[in-house]
Amino acid sequence: MLDLRERPFTDRGSRLMVTAGPDGALRVSRARYEADPETVLSGLRVLSADRPLPVRAALPDRVEFDGGVCLVFAGPETLVLTGDGVRAVWDGGAAEVAGCRTLTGAGTFDPADVLARAAARWDAWFARMPAVRADLRARAKEAWWTLAANVIAIGGREALVPSKAGYVGLWNWDACFHAVGLRHGDPALAREQIRILLDHRLPDGRLPDVVHDHGVLAETTDLPRSDHLRLARHVGGAAEGGIVGGLVPVTKPPVTAWAVWKVHEAAPDRDFLAEVYEPLVRWQRWWLACSDPDGDGLAEYLHPYSSGLDDSPIWDHGPRAEPPDLNSYLALQYDRLADIAGVLGRDEEARAWREKARAHVALMVRLRWNGARFVTLVGGASGPPAAARTRTPLELMPLFTGRLPERVAAALVADLRSPSFWGERPVPSVAFDDPDFDPEAMWRGPVWLNVNHMLADGLRRSGHPDAAGELAERTLAMVRDGGGLHEYWNPLTGRPARRAARSFGWSAALFLDLAVQAG
Ligand code: GLC
Repeated sequence: MLDLRERPFTDRGSRLMVTAGPDGALRVSRARYEADPETVLSGLRVLSADRPLPVRAALPDRVEFDGGVCLVFAGPETLVLTGDGVRAVWDGGAAEVAGCRTLTGAGTFDPADVLARAAARWDAWFARMPAVRADLRARAKEAWWTLAANVIAIGGREALVPSKAGYVGLWNWDACFHAVGLRHGDPALAREQIRILLDHRLPDGRLPDVVHDHGVLAETTDLPRSDHLRLARHVGGAAEGGIVGGLVPVTKPPVTAWAVWKVHEAAPDRDFLAEVYEPLVRWQRWWLACSDPDGDGLAEYLHPYSSGLDDSPIWDHGPRAEPPDLNSYLALQYDRLADIAGVLGRDEEARAWREKARAHVALMVRLRWNGARFVTLVGGASGPPAAARTRTPLELMPLFTGRLPERVAAALVADLRSPSFWGERPVPSVAFDDPDFDPEAMWRGPVWLNVNHMLADGLRRSGHPDAAGELAERTLAMVRDGGGLHEYWNPLTGRPARRAARSFGWSAALFLDLAVQAG
């Protein structure tokens, strides 16, 4: 059952969203890239003898009004009302409903047929939903609905967007997280997310930040103007760092091969691995060839958006930073390239990637482990990057590699379990005891599911299954009890942060993945 004030009635592949206002009237709007949804119809009501019929139930396949009237999708752009002897009214229009009345789009339809087809579509989708334990089932069902509801067509392909209301494009690392959730019931759709991303690679091997209706966002000149203004206000030294006017690549963290391998583990497909191998190799090489300005062998983020943590206090110091997550992802990506090369029978290459993974982690430990923690380097616009005071869980992310010396891994686990990062609802995106911690502000305190999921994944690889299990259980409980699949949660209250997007793709995907693993 949907609450139309919180979650829209929509359909897989459709840009249309039906939501309810405080007065109960419905609005039909259309999702657009980096713009507010465009109103198609507003003030929509169904009247019987001049009295508005209340919505009795909003289900994935139809909105049911009293009197047996239904609003249903006959096609991605076509919404129809089925019923008899009632009248639909909306701002600037009205129509009698007798059988089936087309509201948006075109065509005439048989009411029973349209309802049956919509029900069959959603039944088929829910039949693919992976099994999860009883206490997680209701939220998992909402998550599985979210993964289909967030699909739109981009360039004629089925792209899962983070949110139809807020992020209308295929975002790079979101697509990877989406694939990790989708692999359990629809590995073909999971692979398609990764294919869309890889098919939009740049000539230099980089993957774009976003694939959208008008092209890609892959460098600063592609950014919408509103983003330039926002960045100029928020990012320390933005103007002199060239972030506002200059040309800087914009991408997202390299978790692609990690996701490819997860999909392969759930549904092995050697041809898919063969198809993605070269683009993944070129993507991996891009980071060290083009995103390591000081040439020390450890890559840096050259734009806040490339870190995926746009608003983090890490960026208060300037538009270059090297938090420890980036090189951890790259080290694991070497290992996953080795795994893929192994399946493809390219044993020499597999050995070489494995050695690079080992060497990359050794370099991280040698250059960035200060005996107590991995340092985050910030600044860098008008001088060398310096160690940040700000503490974020990115400094725990070397666990993701599964390759740390035991004493270093143990120190990170102890840090995770310390009051800085642990609590009823771990893990805050800025340490609880950091002066910059703000439980409501994006990436400045709230809990995000990708951070928790990747840490739990890394703890398992690092030989700490108990800590992984406990982190997963606390995360699952927070989402189960937190009122919906939001973009991020206030860790002090467990409620959605006020400005967080609703029905957020990776929260749905990663909640499902954790729920499946929890058995
Ligand atoms: C925000 C997040 C980023 C994410 C994007 C789409 O910009 O900071 O990590 O990829 O939204 O969900």
